[in-house]
This record gives sequence, C-alpha cells and structure tokens, in this order.
Amino acid sequence: MTVHASDTTTPAALVARRTPGHSLEAPFYVSDALFRLDVDAVFARSWIFAAAEAELPEPGDYITLTLGAYSVLVVRDDDEEVRAFHNVCRHRGARILNDERGSVGNIVCGYHHWTYGVDGTLLHAESQPPDFDRSCFGLRSVHVRTVAGLVFLSLAAEPPADFDEFAARVEPYLAPHNLARAKVAQQIDLVEHGNWKLTMENNRECYHCAGHPELQRCYFPLYNFTEDEVPPGMRATFERFQKADAEARATYESLGLPYATIEELVERPTGFRVQREPLDLAGESFTPDGKAAVRRLLADFPTARLGHLGFHLQPNAWFHFLADHAVLFSVVPLAADRTLVRTTWLVHADAEEGIDYDLDSLTGVWVATNEQDAVFVSRAQLGVGSPAYVPGPYSPTESQVEDFVTWYINRLTAHLEGP
Ligand code: FES
Ligand SMILES: [Fe+2]
Repeated sequence: MTVHASDTTTPAALVARRTPGHSLEAPFYVSDALFRLDVDAVFARSWIFAAAEAELPEPGDYITLTLGAYSVLVVRDDDEEVRAFHNVCRHRGARILNDERGSVGNIVCGYHHWTYGVDGTLLHAESQPPDFDRSCFGLRSVHVRTVAGLVFLSLAAEPPADFDEFAARVEPYLAPHNLARAKVAQQIDLVEHGNWKLTMENNRECYHCAGHPELQRCYFPLYNFTEDEVPPGMRATFERFQKADAEARATYESLGLPYATIEELVERPTGFRVQREPLDLAGESFTPDGKAAVRRLLADFPTARLGHLGFHLQPNAWFHFLADHAVLFSVVPLAADRTLVRTTWLVHADAEEGIDYDLDSLTGVWVATNEQDAVFVSRAQLGVGSPAYVPGPYSPTESQVEDFVTWYINRLTAHLEGP
C-alpha cells in the first residue's frame, strides 16, 4: 500500500492546518486512525439519531446499533419507555443481542444465560454464591431521549448539555407530523463506498442535483441558493419556487405550523437545521407528479399540500416530513471507506399497503436518489484517495458543507484538547 506523506502527520496537525472554505485533506477520508478518532471524538460524544419510535412499537421490541467497537441495544421496556444499554454482558462481556432487531421478553446472554429484564436489571444468574448481589450487575445504560417519535442516544458519560434546548426548539416543528402514530412502511440499508463525512457533505448541497432527475421533478433543486446565485437556466424554476413558497407560507400560517428556518450548524455540539419548503408540481410529496403517495395522511391536516419539513442533525441524520409520510435517513460509519445509509419510510399506523399506498410509488424517488448519491460518494472516495488529490474550494451554495466540516473540526479540536 502506498503511504502518502500526509498520512504520517498527526490528527492534531491535520486539524490545526485545515483551510477554511476548502474540502478536507485526504487522511480525513482514508485513514483508519482518523476513522477511529471520528468514532471516539464525534460519534461517541454527540447525540446521534438511532431509530424511529415506530421501529419499537411493542414492549420488548429492540434494535441494535454498532458504532465502531460499540454496540448499543435500544429497547422498549414494559412501561413503554425507550431505554438504551451497552450490548455487553455484565458476566464476562459477551455481546448479548446479535441480531439487528427483534423482540424479547427478557434479554438473555447466549453464553452462560445471565438474564436481564428489558429495564436492564439482572434477573437471573445461575450458580452464584449466596452473597451474590444481582443489583450490582444490571446492564450499563446509555443516555437516550425521544423527541416527537424520534430516538436519540449519546454514548458520552456526560452528553452534550444543549440537547434539551435543541429538543424544545425542534419539537414544535416535528410534533404536528404525528410520528408517534406512525408505522414503518419500508426500511432500506445501503452501504456507500465512501467515508461517512463524504456522505454527510454530499447531503448538504444541491450543487449536484442535476444528477437526480427523479428528485428534481418534485423537489426544487435550489437548495441553499440565494436569489443572486440561481443559474440563468434555472430562472423559471426559481420563479415557480417563489410563487409556491408564498402560498406555502400562507398555509403554514393558517395551520399554525412553525416555519422559520433555524440554522445552527457550526458552534453548538448538537448542530441542527430545520426548514419548511414547498415542493414542485402538486406540492404534496416526493412522487413523480408531486401528489401524495399515501391516501391516509400521517398528519392531521386539511391539506396534503404542505411541501416538506427538512430537518438535519449533525453528525448523522437528515429527515423529510410531509403531510402523507416521513422519510428518515441515518448514517452509520462502518470503516474509513464504508458507510451505512439507512432510509426509513413512515406512514400512518392505519394506512394499508396496496390500499392506501403502493410501496414502489412511496419509495421510488428516494431509492433512485440514494443510488445516485452512492455513486457520487464512491467517486469522491476514489478521488480523495488518489495521491493527486488536493483540497478544493466550496462554492457559496455549499455553505452548509463548509459549516458541517467546520463543526467536525471543532468537535475534533475539543476532543484532542480534552478536559
Ligand atoms: S458472558 Fe454473558 S452470561 Fe457469561
Ligand atoms: Fe444527492
């Protein structure tokens, strides 16, 4: 394997010499050491999106999530609360639940059958001495919070303290979309052959949206363009957008839906952004004609023509909430050059497939878009891995890429400087 000269520089040196306004140096995308640092400094210290509550409808339902060397199990307990624990047995440490999802009465380690309740308490451990105190050996808990039907967790001993304020501000935007009453219509895992940051960066701009013909039909490809930046060929689209936007704002106001954009991506540990925007054509959903894909609306609104609420959370998620469904994207780093993108479509719990919606119509636009994005990300990974790669400048429409990268560098700096 070729070793680039820059591979031998320390993370601290790479962080210190990052050039604002430019893409990152190659080691950030290709180095195994930087990948491990990303897990420790970013994923294990932030609040991350784990799942929709709809993935855990009943007590005992669980998912497991692997992040670097960590494995976390997220389970609904008998009181219907969502709990999270390290998936590590308190006996000799075996990984306990080995499937990605399932349902359990109790949580049983397959090695020597120590048995835990879904609240994490150790219920049973065979052949122990009389003085064995089970209460000392419950599963180690992981911080978990739910907001409007979304489950977030933090592996940090002391999670970022800004979560409460973040939750209080986004909850009024999300709550009207009724995620708590949703069911999973579809979930698709896609492994992109690229670093997780390339996946997130790619999502933060629509400079490349000409590569998404299906999405472009219903989605105004003007994301983060100011009026001055709109290319001449997109002028007519921009005018259509302005008209739809004025109409959408009037609808939001009449329905009492908050719609002011909040964009706090750089300074805070829990960097986030929310925005309501119209969609093109019928303006209802991500479908070829813009009409609702689900007849039974997810949200209790008198109109389906709400456009979408876009929500973005660093480091690992973005979401679109519409009148008829919601689509959630989470990003899980697998290796320096491999990233899991999980897409989950939520519809009303009573919506019936084949009657109220057709799965292909519901998922088609984003299935195609995700596959296109995976190609872009894999090409970016190949390019940044070349000895010829030098960081290049972001365009003004890529300001959120710059914000994300700056936030990331800030997170590494905080970790490297340490307490
Ligand atoms: S390691 Fe789990 S019961 Fe022994
Ligand atoms: Fe894209």
